[in-house]
Amino acid sequence: MAKSGGSPSHVLTPDGRFLLLKPDEKPWLVGGENWRLLGRDIADSLRATKGDSALVLVHGRGANVQALVEGVALGDYRFNLCRSGKESKRNRIAVHIPGQADAVKAGLLTAASQNLARELADMPPNQLNPQTFAARARKLLSGTGVDVRITSGVGSLRKAGFPGLAQVGMAGSADPCLVEMHYKPSKKRKSRKDVRLALVGKGITFDSGGISLKPGDKMWEMKGDMSGAAAVLGAMAWVAEREPSIPISGYLCLAENMPDRGAQRPGDIYQARNGKWIHVDNTDAEGRLVLSDVLTYAGECGATHIVDIATLTGACMVALGDRMGGLMGRGEAFLQSVRAAGQEAGEEFWQLPLYGEYRSLLDHPHADINNIGGRYGGAITAGIFLSEFVPENVQWAHLDIAGPAIQSGGWRYYAKGMTGFSTRTLIRLAQKLG
Ligand code: BES
Ligand code: MN
Ligand code: ZN
Repeated sequence: MAKSGGSPSHVLTPDGRFLLLKPDEKPWLVGGENWRLLGRDIADSLRATKGDSALVLVHGRGANVQALVEGVALGDYRFNLCRSGKESKRNRIAVHIPGQADAVKAGLLTAASQNLARELADMPPNQLNPQTFAARARKLLSGTGVDVRITSGVGSLRKAGFPGLAQVGMAGSADPCLVEMHYKPSKKRKSRKDVRLALVGKGITFDSGGISLKPGDKMWEMKGDMSGAAAVLGAMAWVAEREPSIPISGYLCLAENMPDRGAQRPGDIYQARNGKWIHVDNTDAEGRLVLSDVLTYAGECGATHIVDIATLTGACMVALGDRMGGLMGRGEAFLQSVRAAGQEAGEEFWQLPLYGEYRSLLDHPHADINNIGGRYGGAITAGIFLSEFVPENVQWAHLDIAGPAIQSGGWRYYAKGMTGFSTRTLIRLAQKLG
């Protein structure tokens, strides 16, 4: 036990059963992950014994108790909105941890924020489209200190200077839209004047590939292509509750990428918000198109630090596997603090270089930039593409979560489905910067 600094946990089930749980000691389990896994074990054993409450005695630091609570709540989550049987009526479980009220509260809030992101990502694309997603955001944040503004429809998006969202979303079954969520700390709160954080999420509610249609195998997983936006909304739900001491804005780039006579074509060229002309070589490289104008806009709105979160490239999974995110961007110190926030929250990111020599892979004879690079280094060329739309004076981190966001086989405390990955990293980052 000495290595993790933890003690075994005792679980007493209502019928008097007593379980002794011991955190796993695998060296890659950092940021309280072994405590989250213990929490999952508690949720699992309650499920197996049909129990609904447990008394847990822990002698641990607050951070570990928080992680344990997160593990219970994340491990207990199942997507049941589309089930008719018993499973849909399963009671929620209660876990009592005496003497740790603050840690329990923090863990429950963090897990609820992440489970919100998961639920949105698990929702089928006939139920969650750009419009229903936006409505959910509005409802969730109404009456809180977070202001919500929505720009909706192809015409309005073009007029407001978001041609990328219009291009990608114009053949969708519902109108594309941009959701802005702005939070400012109240005057009473002492706030750092030098930090304004912006979170920009890719929100493709279904990515068929568009005219550059994807193959059918596992295409359904692309209902999770809004996981970046879901994590941003989860983080903003946390912001609304905790009211941190720095201004934070969230942006959801919502569109459905579909083939249709009204869809954008390979060969289309359009002018982005920052004036650059983009050649659409492949309509399946749509994430970078919906993000680019919003990155520019977030800078115009005064952000000093921007984080974008996107299930952006299959290439990132080829490079890093599907259990860590890719990290790219500008401003080494900021990138390191994003990575540290991830590690503290039990979410791993690995940095990839925005190597200047690869910029020429995005050259096009008829436009300023092509929307795909060559065969190699696809996560990096996607990052380089985005970098051209981020205003120069801001620090910027790009999180490619294509792998860890979608786990149809289950992982750690995640049941089969979407994970809400990066929600905890964003929450931790907001705490660190504030
Ligand atoms: N949403 C996909 C990326 C993705 C793939 C996420 C698998 C999660 C799992 C993205 O829009 C996409 O289609 N990217 C293409 C880019 C290519 C056309 C340059 C890809 O990765 O193949
Ligand atoms: Mn795509
Ligand atoms: Zn996509």
